[in-house]
Amino acid sequence: MKRPGALRQLWLAFAHDRQIDVSGFDPTWLALREPADHRSRNQDVADALAARFALRDSVNVVDLGCGTGSNLRAMAELLPKNQSWTLVDHDPALLTAARSTLAGWADQATQNANGALSLNFRDRAIHVRFVQFDLNDELGDIFDPTPDLVTAAAFFDLASQSFIERLIRAVVSRQAIFYTVLTYNGIQHWTPRRPADNQMTSAFNRHQVTDKGLGPAAGPMAPDLLADQFKMAGYSILEGDSPWQLSAPGDAKLIVDLAVGFADAVAETGQVDDKTLAAWRAVARTGAFVGHTDTLALPA
Ligand SMILES: C[S@@+](CC[C@H](N)C(=O)[O-])C[C@H]1O[C@@H](n2cnc3c(N)ncnc32)[C@H](O)[C@@H]1O
Repeated sequence: MKRPGALRQLWLAFAHDRQIDVSGFDPTWLALREPADHRSRNQDVADALAARFALRDSVNVVDLGCGTGSNLRAMAELLPKNQSWTLVDHDPALLTAARSTLAGWADQATQNANGALSLNFRDRAIHVRFVQFDLNDELGDIFDPTPDLVTAAAFFDLASQSFIERLIRAVVSRQAIFYTVLTYNGIQHWTPRRPADNQMTSAFNRHQVTDKGLGPAAGPMAPDLLADQFKMAGYSILEGDSPWQLSAPGDAKLIVDLAVGFADAVAETGQVDDKTLAAWRAVARTGAFVGHTDTLALPA
């Protein structure tokens, strides 16, 4: 789980002093959410992506903020038989976890001398290179060779408007296809409902627009920004909802961790008083709905 702003800064300073390997996103949290992420993806948008590549034998993909490679695992069977992936993340620990998780997921995995992986998964042959890269830097470096498809999962709500505009310029100038999933869109419901839920969600959404490392985050506005900017660049857009619809007992651990992270973020905003927060935390939750949007942008 992402450590919230001020606490995260303290943690980073502490970890830096002690040379602890720092990861902004815990691989355990990413693994916990992966089944919900995969089943929540919007099928119509995924089908449209698959249709666009249906007549091709191969594809070259860049995955931004790849984490442990969940997006590749979800998309492998939507794309042509021969795939070349560039997995990009600034966190070396997550790239290491991606390498081992993907090797374990594939039917067959060969590690190449340069650190890349050659995977076989069902009838797909997938070449994966891992690039440690801060997306604040000049994007040209990760778009060579020119990708057919730029993708990301659970990423763009962390990004700022200026990053989104810069990224879209880079995608459009290469006439690449763009597909992103699970962008948070601001909607949350909890079961059981409590009177403080709306106040909590509004504080949480304010927290979502604080800087997450790529400038002041677009947060829940990210889906609209992506669609508007791509439309202005002459792309056609297909969007679909991809909410997490979590219920106990199957999702019990994810619901508990989500509620803790949600309340911690709200606490940081100072917008909800301690008594209300403590009462909200004390409720045992059996369900959660978290709104997301999937976006496919196609060049004319
Ligand atoms: C919510 S996680 C999603 C990970 C993965 N896409 C998934 O679906 O499980 C966001 C990812 O973005 C990466 N990230 C955040 N800021 C970044 C930056 N400035 N440069 C590169 N990667 C970044 C994080 O390290 C993390 O892996």
